[in-house]
Amino acid sequence: MSITSLAPERAAPVAGPSLPHPRGHLTRWLFAYLRGEPSGPRPAVAAIGDAGRDEDLQLALYCCYELHYRGFCDVDPDLEWDPEVLALRRGLEYCFVDALLRLRGVATITPEATEARLLAMANDGGGPSLSEFVRAAADVEQVRELCILRSAYQLKEADPHTWAIPRLHGEAKAATVEIQADEYGGGHAPSMHGALFADTMRELGLDPTYGAYLDLIPGVTLATTNLISLFGLHRRWRGALVGHLALFEMTSVGPMGRYADALARLGVGPAGRRFYEVHVEADQEHQHIALERMVRGLLRSEPQLAADVVFGAAALTEVEGRFTEHVLGRWRAGRSSLLAGQRLEGVRALSA
Ligand SMILES: [Fe+2]
Ligand SMILES: [Fe+2]
Repeated sequence: MSITSLAPERAAPVAGPSLPHPRGHLTRWLFAYLRGEPSGPRPAVAAIGDAGRDEDLQLALYCCYELHYRGFCDVDPDLEWDPEVLALRRGLEYCFVDALLRLRGVATITPEATEARLLAMANDGGGPSLSEFVRAAADVEQVRELCILRSAYQLKEADPHTWAIPRLHGEAKAATVEIQADEYGGGHAPSMHGALFADTMRELGLDPTYGAYLDLIPGVTLATTNLISLFGLHRRWRGALVGHLALFEMTSVGPMGRYADALARLGVGPAGRRFYEVHVEADQEHQHIALERMVRGLLRSEPQLAADVVFGAAALTEVEGRFTEHVLGRWRAGRSSLLAGQRLEGVRALSA
């Protein structure tokens, strides 16, 4: 007997966006399967050279994960735990994680040295700064592009990290809950950070509907969100999820302030800037809660997770570095950072 046969009626799949357009054989199979159309046998996921940028792999993974968030209006919600979908997802995840592990390696590190390592990573400017470019030189179309790219994460901001809460205990759990409560506006819906980001999109003339721009978002951007979902949905990666959230909070204040400055320079009003200004204030505190209570609390109770904590932070640095390289590279070449073939004219049409 299936679980759904226990329900009086099959749940109607009404919420969420519709599936995007496929980008290759993996998404072609996945979308046909999810729609209940003839799809043939599930494709094997072969090793992919650059899994972090692969359009087909990252979109397939993103859509597998979306079944655990808001789903798609044209997909039966019961497919969230479908064995075929989970088997495909597993293959995609192996490719993605393997690429990250090969790029960074997993450091051997003691729990005592972990906080210092995270601080060093937070203070390491590394490559070029996207926020510095945006503050100094971005035009309003580039800011709109950036919002479209970031919408894949920001419209469900905090949700992937919330998966950590049932996997932690004691001080680490309490600290995570304190951070996440702020991310959800302290229980006030209009103040949820995802809602504030929707306000910014509206102020910029964009469509804040969840999933509205998925077809414009390249794999290198989807990878930044997929990384958190991957860590969040696997208890095995709880240390990496904590490391990711810690570095996230520790590297937020400066960039968020610069984005707020950019919007002010471009004449965007307070409602559009509030998302960024709220982060400047909140993350001033969150960075300390994250490092001194969440990470410290976790490693006191589970010291064997130190290397995973550092891996999670390193993986964040890696995917964000690639994202920045992509956006600045396109802009410096006078091109759009949106998915190849999609221009801002397409964005205007969508938001009209
Ligand atoms: Fe936030
Ligand atoms: Fe925060």
